[in-house]
Amino acid sequence: MALTLTSPRAVGLLVCVISIILSPSLTNGASKTNSMKPPRMAMALIHPHSIHSPYYNPNATDYDLVERAIDGSIARTRSLSKLVAAPNDYAFRGGVIADNKGVAFLVKLSVGTPPVPQLLIIDTGSNLFWFQCEPCVSCFPQSLPRFDPAKSSSYSNILCNSVACNVSTHECDSNKEYCTYNLKYIDGASTRGNLATENVTFETSDEGTMVIPITKIGCGHENSGSVDGQQSGLLGLSYNYYYSFIQQVGLKFSICLGDVHDPQYPYNQLVLGDDAVLEGKSTTLDLYGGHYYVNLQGISVGETRLKIDPGAFKRAPSGEGGVVLDSGTGLTWLKGDGYVPLQNEVQRLLDPRLRRVKYGRKIELLCYAGTMGKDLQGFPVVTFHFENGAELILDINSMFFQVTPAMFCMTVVQSDLTLRGLSLIGVLAQQYHNIGYDIQGKQLFIQRIDCRYLDQQSAFP
Ligand SMILES: *[C@@H]1O[C@H](CO)[C@@H](O)[C@H](O)[C@H]1NC(C)=O
Ligand SMILES: *[C@@H]1O[C@H](CO)[C@@H](O)[C@H](O)[C@H]1NC(C)=O
Ligand SMILES: *[C@@H]1O[C@H](CO)[C@@H](O)[C@H](O)[C@H]1NC(C)=O
Repeated sequence: MALTLTSPRAVGLLVCVISIILSPSLTNGASKTNSMKPPRMAMALIHPHSIHSPYYNPNATDYDLVERAIDGSIARTRSLSKLVAAPNDYAFRGGVIADNKGVAFLVKLSVGTPPVPQLLIIDTGSNLFWFQCEPCVSCFPQSLPRFDPAKSSSYSNILCNSVACNVSTHECDSNKEYCTYNLKYIDGASTRGNLATENVTFETSDEGTMVIPITKIGCGHENSGSVDGQQSGLLGLSYNYYYSFIQQVGLKFSICLGDVHDPQYPYNQLVLGDDAVLEGKSTTLDLYGGHYYVNLQGISVGETRLKIDPGAFKRAPSGEGGVVLDSGTGLTWLKGDGYVPLQNEVQRLLDPRLRRVKYGRKIELLCYAGTMGKDLQGFPVVTFHFENGAELILDINSMFFQVTPAMFCMTVVQSDLTLRGLSLIGVLAQQYHNIGYDIQGKQLFIQRIDCRYLDQQSAFP
């Protein structure tokens, strides 16, 4: 992956945009709360196209952003298809990094004493929380100053000869003094360094801070790969290793996404630990191979339940097929048995009135000539039905996007043969929902909500 900026023209703006990100009042704009409520470990999720992101390019059109979402989704599925083809080659290496050409989200938190801010990509497919560290053997460019463990009074390396090292990586430096880690991500990115304990400072929902000691953190001295020159590291939200960050903050988190096309929308939010918002109907969360699988049982368009074999989306015991909820792809990819009936129904509703057009680049999309605002008025909501009654509701803005001024396309596509029956529910389909992951209880909570109201609601459960 090339170390390029989104656009060379964006460079001049980076400095001032970064200072916006560092301003607590803006990053916490998501969560103005009354003082009665205990603070929550809530963090603004910074969409790369948001005005709060260093990737923000004010000249990018909606169509540029859609193009990037498509490219990012394709890159993501290419990565995942490698995992599907050779699960054992990558399983121990910890997973998939979200491709930041697409819709990877960033969060900001600080590490060390005194706290040093970090801008991190969140990734539901890998486990470790790591960031670039001095002294740096090889590092990618980042916008914030690099963390220097020598200057932090709360930092300490995990010793080679310790239980913590024994049960996590079993890897030590050449002097057999300190515990090390070495991760290679599917997309080619890699990081290598010391496993350490360190204090992490979160900004909380009441604009205060909370310090949490994290006992397994990665201090990366040799790092490479898929970055745009801004982020300092990665916050893994997967659950299946001893050094998993999410295990250390309570095996729960929630992600609320609003309108991801709106660069001004400040309420996208990640909440960690016991404060995670677990509201709404729940469905079984199937934890397999480090990914978050859900049991999708059917799809409705308006009142019409599509004829889809209820077993179509089941994950086989061998791992093939199934449906993963993914934070790193924009589009939703459904295997043919589920996709074709949906496409047929959409065509049945739209073909009599609109002219179908070819998108014709990189990927097969169902597209029509026209504008969403005018031509999709009255189009029914599409509902994904999960086991036990939880639902994801896709309105027009989740089901379609305007790809050019004269053409809009469906955001659900048929999943690639290389994915061998795997389906992915992407970020566009998750808009205007809060999704709560209870890993211990193996439940996923889905609630349709404008994230703006998240705090008010959980104050009065
Ligand atoms: C945006 O476009 C304006 C007018 O064409 C130009 O002056 C400005 O430099 C551009 N900014 C960026 C970040 O590309
Ligand atoms: C690290 O955090 C813990 C828990 O909040 C605190 O007791 C400790 O004093 C902190 N260490 C430093 C060096 O600030
Ligand atoms: C590491 O684990 C092995 C096998 O589980 C055990 O025999 C050994 O004593 C452990 N060493 C340490 C330092 O914990």
